[in-house]
Amino acid sequence: MKKINIGIVGLGTVGTGIARLLTENSDIISSRLGGELVLKKAADLDIERDRGIDFDPGVLTTDPYEVVDDPEIEIILEMIGGMEIAKELITRSIKAGKHVVTANKALLATSGNEIVNMASQKGVSLAFEASVGGCMPIIKTIRESLAANNIHSVTGILNGTCNYILTKIATDGISFEKALDQAKAEGYAEADPSLDVDGYDTAHKLAILSAIAFGMEINYDDVYMEGISAITPMDIEFAAQCGYRIKLLAITKYDGQAVEARVHPTMIPCYDLLSNVGGSMNAVTVTGDAVGDMILYGHGAGMMPTASAVISDVVDIARSVLAGGAMRMPILSYQADYIRKIPVKPMDEIFTYYYFRFSALDKPGVLAKIAGILGEHDISIKYVHQTEHRVNGVVPVYMLTHQAREAQVKKALDKIAQLGVIPEKPVLIRIESPEEEKS
Ligand code: NDP
Ligand code: HSE
Repeated sequence: MKKINIGIVGLGTVGTGIARLLTENSDIISSRLGGELVLKKAADLDIERDRGIDFDPGVLTTDPYEVVDDPEIEIILEMIGGMEIAKELITRSIKAGKHVVTANKALLATSGNEIVNMASQKGVSLAFEASVGGCMPIIKTIRESLAANNIHSVTGILNGTCNYILTKIATDGISFEKALDQAKAEGYAEADPSLDVDGYDTAHKLAILSAIAFGMEINYDDVYMEGISAITPMDIEFAAQCGYRIKLLAITKYDGQAVEARVHPTMIPCYDLLSNVGGSMNAVTVTGDAVGDMILYGHGAGMMPTASAVISDVVDIARSVLAGGAMRMPILSYQADYIRKIPVKPMDEIFTYYYFRFSALDKPGVLAKIAGILGEHDISIKYVHQTEHRVNGVVPVYMLTHQAREAQVKKALDKIAQLGVIPEKPVLIRIESPEEEKS
């Protein structure tokens, strides 16, 4: 059986999972590939730690350049994460004519266009299935299974850590901090967890998805982003009373002129499949003109699910190598000549449904003043509820709206804040209600 040498840089959560899968599932991988993947070298800063794997002598090294400069290694797996060193190792590998697999969405989102161009010009593969949605084959699905579709939208829960935190607060009533500690212990969180909770990680993934879905350059700087740290148990509870759950959603839509690309906490109706995705699980709905809606669901993070996605890329590349080496897949799913700059809609132009929570002074006329300002800005109230639960002289007033323009919403909330009857900053959560939008 023909052998293909691979090298891993970074034996942390994902790198260790890859090494384990290559050992434990080598027979099934070989039988599908028609060749043998040989882990020739693996680098990590710490090679003394027991990872529960029997590496062959000479495989482990602390020097990543021993891996990327090894002339016998054809496929490099970059699993260290981060920016500068990862980029240097990837570009050095590409220049040496090696194929590269990475799970590094932060690097792809920020330097992806440059790295993709470099790989295309050199004629090597650059694969990154694990960078979005863990084990869910969302990249392959858009690039291959949906090749015949004009894609209208991609909407997903793409961060396991945030979904885990929101689920734990809602179902177990534990604090944000405790839920984050648990997510860290499970290996879901990034080395810097603010990348997760502040929305960056989801925005990185959304930038990659918009590019492969619509044939545009990776446009991370244009993605609108809000994280989950401002979400309170009060909002989660009120959402539930109204038949919604709050999720950190990544939303990208293309209307033929411009793309929407936004990441923010979103209320989704409990009947929607996405709303029932709990814990660290991820899910993504893709809408195409031929397929209609389709959904993928799976582990969005963690050692073995992510390793599974990485090895699926390695097998794809190894198959091409065994078949003579031609690069079969366009890296960003469109042929390079068809990748355009598509404008991204400013957030002010978004037209959607809203939830507001005002902490209002409990005085006559307050509600009427708020409603009046909303009306002046073309914002129609669908539902309003005021509780009797007075804290520090204020009561929470909850509102759901019909569709409204984001620019008008911002102006209205600014004006309401100036009334002098809302001591705390109003809370705004956008609502995605696909069924209502269709009707
Ligand atoms: P880890 O931090 O667990 O692993 C990275 C490993 O690389 C660590 O062992 C680190 O050593 C080592 N390392 C860092 N710098 C170097 C270097 N210069 N040379 C050699 N080794 C080095 O990260 P993960 O495994 O969690 O993530 C890896 C990548 O996969 C990231 O890009 C991440 O975003 C992505 N990813 C992770 C998922 C997950 O569930 N964890 C899911 C999907 C993608 P040390 O610890 O000593 O610094
Ligand atoms: N930190 C990421 C998450 C890892 O929680 O989803 C998977 O990309």
